[in-house]
Amino acid sequence: GATMRRESSIHGQWSSKLVFVLAATGSAVGLGNIWRFPYIAGENGGGAFVLIYLACILLIGLPIMMAEIALGRRGRQSPINTMATLAREEGLHRAWGLVGWLGVTAGFIILSYYSVIAGWSLSYVFRAASGAFAGLDGEGVKNLFEGLVSDPERLLAWHTLFMLMNILVVARGVRSGLEKAVKFLMPALLGMLLILVGYAMTQGHFMQGFAFMFRPDFSQVTGDTILLAMGQAFFTLSLGMGAIMIYGSYLSSRASIFKTSATVVSADTAVALLAGLAIFPIVFASGLEPGAGPGLIFITLPMAFGEMTGGLLFGTLFFLLLVTAAWTSSISLMEPAVAWLVENRGLDRPLAAMIVGGIAWFLGIGTILSFSLWSNPIGFNLTLGGESLFIGGTLFDMADYLTSNIMLPLGGLLIALFVGWRMNRRSVEEELGLRSRVFFKAWYHVLRFAAPIGILLIFLKAVNLI
Ligand code: PFF
Ligand code: NA
Repeated sequence: GATMRRESSIHGQWSSKLVFVLAATGSAVGLGNIWRFPYIAGENGGGAFVLIYLACILLIGLPIMMAEIALGRRGRQSPINTMATLAREEGLHRAWGLVGWLGVTAGFIILSYYSVIAGWSLSYVFRAASGAFAGLDGEGVKNLFEGLVSDPERLLAWHTLFMLMNILVVARGVRSGLEKAVKFLMPALLGMLLILVGYAMTQGHFMQGFAFMFRPDFSQVTGDTILLAMGQAFFTLSLGMGAIMIYGSYLSSRASIFKTSATVVSADTAVALLAGLAIFPIVFASGLEPGAGPGLIFITLPMAFGEMTGGLLFGTLFFLLLVTAAWTSSISLMEPAVAWLVENRGLDRPLAAMIVGGIAWFLGIGTILSFSLWSNPIGFNLTLGGESLFIGGTLFDMADYLTSNIMLPLGGLLIALFVGWRMNRRSVEEELGLRSRVFFKAWYHVLRFAAPIGILLIFLKAVNLI
């Protein structure tokens, strides 16, 4: 069989190609770049991790992003219905619809903890603006951070506020909600980023941070390091769960999927690298540990902001940037499930947004308590060849590990297989609309072979099967 081209979605359409690029970049650039990338890279030795991450972005991320956008635009519905519809038109098994469900499930889990961390960021905007960092030493900033995360009630309040901000946007729909938000927030984000990078460049201390990020030491690389780097690539590009797919479903048929994808991937990678280059020099300059974990930027940066001239302004600006980036990402985490509720349950958008936000809000309580009442890791010991290995962690650890390192790459693998092996090649070629056949062939080969084999090998390596 072959699928047919659709010109529009019932939910609406971006008013231009540029708005799609803003929205998709807004989805990609988020806590993943500024909070997660530095701390995961820091915990995994820096250089080698960063290089493997970059390889995953290029060989797996970019081709899969193009496939996800093409699928979304071909189906023009929520990821669940897009997958089911395209599978039906191709005469394929109904089980392909499960790819959409996998994505929606991952979206709920990610949103649940993402909103809690965004809540930390919100709280830090006010701390920075009120001068709470002034004169603090390493001990002081650590206490400040621990005071926040060990207080479930305060975390719940910030988490609730952030979730309401998302419901507010998504409830208003594609044009007057998502589009309006990204048109306002993305230029603000870019402005804040430029000011902060300009400032960081005048601060010196660059070399040690630079060396940490780019001097690879492959002797420390394990299967898990590679899995984490791939997981970070999926997470940071918002791939494998349908967020980019549904944004693609609102894109005009005339826009070039390759050019828009390349722009989004470049912007996201640039922001991650800039964040690392701004953060690691401070980590080393102040004698802190790059492996400090999820608190890394909330501990190191306040110390720097507390010391520097203009720290009040730049600190406030930085956490405002973080909140903005998180906001334009989490609305894309909600959209697939909201669109499905509208399509299949006939709900009004505001009600759908409240239901999705409400479920993720409730799940987020597990993450909130992961830093206090439920901070003892839960799991089991696995004994392999005399070596005992603990599998488990807090609910936050598990939600994060399961989604980034397993669910998103699995979703991406299935998307690559669907587009590369099961869909009619002509449909794919038509939707992609690449002018050069050579170029199409190159992409198609990477999608059929390199990307899926890469993902599979990394999965096998992580469980020590190769
Ligand atoms: N890409 C976002 C970030 O880097 O913060 C996180 C994210 C958004 C992941 C949307 C997945 C997603 F569908
Ligand atoms: Na990102």
